[in-house]
Amino acid sequence: MPDSEKDQEPTQQVEAARKAFEQEFGRFARFTGSSGDLSGLSLEQAIIEQRLLAELRTRHLGKKSALAASKKLIGRVAPDLRATFGQLVQSIEGRLTKVLDEAEQNLKNYIENERTTLESIDVTLPGRRPRRGHRHPITLVRERIEDIFVALGYAIEDDREIETDFYNFDALNIPENHPARASQDTFYTTEGFALRSQTSTVQIHAMQRRGAPVRMIAPGRVFRRDTPDPTHNPMFFQVEGLCVDRGITMAHLKGTVAEFLRRMFGAETVTRFRPSYFPFTEPSAEFDFSCFRCKGAGCRICKNSGWIELGGSGMVHPNVLRAVGVDPEEFSGFAFGLGIDRMCALMYELDDIRLLFENDVRFLEQFE
Ligand code: FA5
Repeated sequence: MPDSEKDQEPTQQVEAARKAFEQEFGRFARFTGSSGDLSGLSLEQAIIEQRLLAELRTRHLGKKSALAASKKLIGRVAPDLRATFGQLVQSIEGRLTKVLDEAEQNLKNYIENERTTLESIDVTLPGRRPRRGHRHPITLVRERIEDIFVALGYAIEDDREIETDFYNFDALNIPENHPARASQDTFYTTEGFALRSQTSTVQIHAMQRRGAPVRMIAPGRVFRRDTPDPTHNPMFFQVEGLCVDRGITMAHLKGTVAEFLRRMFGAETVTRFRPSYFPFTEPSAEFDFSCFRCKGAGCRICKNSGWIELGGSGMVHPNVLRAVGVDPEEFSGFAFGLGIDRMCALMYELDDIRLLFENDVRFLEQFE
């Protein structure tokens, strides 16, 4: 190779390295200058560009770059040209470093500014008020019932929703094959267990736990194989009442239910009892109260009868007392049970109890 060519070679190599850099750097060129042109760049894009630029720096200025390799050629340059070559390499390296530094600095500033804007909080803005929930209409009615009975000296019992036949039927004087089992058909789970069809099960648990005397109410969820319609749901709420002591009579039952309904619907409320049948009470009665809207004159709520049906009641059957080891010769008691959902529908004038479980906030938020 002639000497002149040999001397040119390092110069060509360093020029080639510069050109390769210029070509790749082209798309980043707009980021250079005093503040660079970063218009239209999102924060995410800027972060990507920052990473690509760092890779570009390693490729063109790093230890394994073409520029670093050409620096090593300085010994091959003729002594009289060495200084010029050295200056050329230095000036190219200087220029590359300058534009890379500028672009990197501008990107860094841009990213920092964008982050600050995104994360900044305007403390003068009004706060976002958390939306306050409220109690379900059934809970509102249940709490009113509980308040009244607690004031009358009753305890509140909470009990299981999955029951054995013994508690749901046998102990309540409903033996196997008794027709009353059919009227309260429920949902059976594993062998021997069923969802309770009435809160009367808590009469048994409460007497087993506390013995006699006992005075309690038990609000809770019950289940029946009923087809849904405006007055029926397969899942609904009842409240059970039980009072067992020495010398309890039907007069105590009537007095207690009448007082409860007066406190619930107003002092002028009249209560009436109609003979009925429940296997676990004897005698049994259903109770109605005078319509709170028309005061007995007849209206849409009471279907023009002046009366509203509310629940069942009666004197606890001696067999039920025996089933829990309470002596019916010494103790007597009364029990009653009513449906909370239908009571809720009456109070809030709902024409369909299914509305209560559709979970439509627009409906539910009306009852505060
Ligand atoms: C009973 O469940 C008896 N355990 C009540 C009782 C207790 C009587 C203590 C004597 C002594 P009944 O099956 O009638 O009774 O139900 C009571 C109330 O539950 C009804 O008055 C009604 O308000 C409500 N109810 C019954 N079935 C449904 C249903 N599918 N959906 C909504 N409410 C219902």
